[in-house]
Amino acid sequence: MSRIADWFQERLPVSGVQLAELTNEPVPNHLRRWWWCLGGTPAYLFVVQIVTGILLAFYYQAAPETAYQSVQRITEEISFGWYLRSVHKWAATLMIAAIILHQMRVYFTAAYRKPREINWMVGMCLLLTTLVIGFTGYSLVFEQLSYWGATVAANICDTVPYVGVYAKQLLLAGETYNENTVSRFYILHAAVLPATLIMLLVIHIGILRLQGVTELHFEDEPEDGPQHFDFFPDHLYTEVIAGLVLMILLSVLATLFPATMGPQADPLTTPEIIKPEWFFYATFRWLKLFSGTVAVLSMGFIVFIMFVWPFIDAWLVRVTRNEDVSFWIGIVGVFLLVGLTTWEALVAH
Ligand code: HEM
Repeated sequence: MSRIADWFQERLPVSGVQLAELTNEPVPNHLRRWWWCLGGTPAYLFVVQIVTGILLAFYYQAAPETAYQSVQRITEEISFGWYLRSVHKWAATLMIAAIILHQMRVYFTAAYRKPREINWMVGMCLLLTTLVIGFTGYSLVFEQLSYWGATVAANICDTVPYVGVYAKQLLLAGETYNENTVSRFYILHAAVLPATLIMLLVIHIGILRLQGVTELHFEDEPEDGPQHFDFFPDHLYTEVIAGLVLMILLSVLATLFPATMGPQADPLTTPEIIKPEWFFYATFRWLKLFSGTVAVLSMGFIVFIMFVWPFIDAWLVRVTRNEDVSFWIGIVGVFLLVGLTTWEALVAH
């Protein structure tokens, strides 16, 4: 055994001590609670997405004539195909929900403040990339709502002055939905965007390791006790338990509420109600409330404000001399998000 170890040591001269030093950072006590280390949850769900996505890709065929039939085959004929598809779909839903909760945790504990502004902006890129992965995935099934959802999204892009027309062409691989559109969505969904997400995650976690997480203290914690614990194995256990619970939850959801299929895409019949996935309900409601360009530009402005929020917050604190202004603005933002989402959910059946 030691000869094998020596063989590897000679070729990969990394010692156990070096590895432990690299990975075993002291973790602040508040991360013992799952709620405060929610960032690990989307990371875990992303791994589930990659594994189930690769297995689905063995059978999925990205062309208008074959996409719908191949998804139908996965759902009805391939062994455990329905399970893989359902877990993939539920993991996407939970991943987006977990990212939103993680972002709220970061926001309401003001963990984006100096010196973490850049990591907040990297986080915003992670959020947007994940949402676009969700959108392109929805379009791959090639059912009526996939087709018309993509068409509506492309038309929304088109209303943006100057660049909108190019964004539409980029999305649809042409002026209108055509024979290359599904494969364009597929490449974006299964290669370009996941690779982008991995790159962003490396930067996000890298910055996190360099800066450490913001330390939070609670009244019920003794002040004279140790303030940190080891990443390995203590924090790893928290993450593994969260992962196992999520796997059970995913299996239960996939079994009780498996992924279904609507009617196949028909370019000649517009459905009565065009409905996006739940995570776009608020955006969709906003776009319906205001007309065309105004709606799209104001939405873009809101996203821009979210991007640069750490700097706006610093300015607000300076001007008002009140540390809590952002907290209350955040509460209004959450009410708006929940309100618009519920409103759209109630009208879009
Ligand atoms: C795929 C999505 C994401 C993953 C996997 C992820 C992962 C993580 C992890 C593991 C942490 C360590 C602390 C914790 O677990 O809460 C963290 C911290 C952080 N994340 Fe994320 N994150 C994601 C998205 C976001 C988003 C959308 C934002 C905000 C726009 C964001 C901003 C931050 C910031 C500022 C910190 C430092 C917090 C502190 O110092 O306490 N992240 N992230």
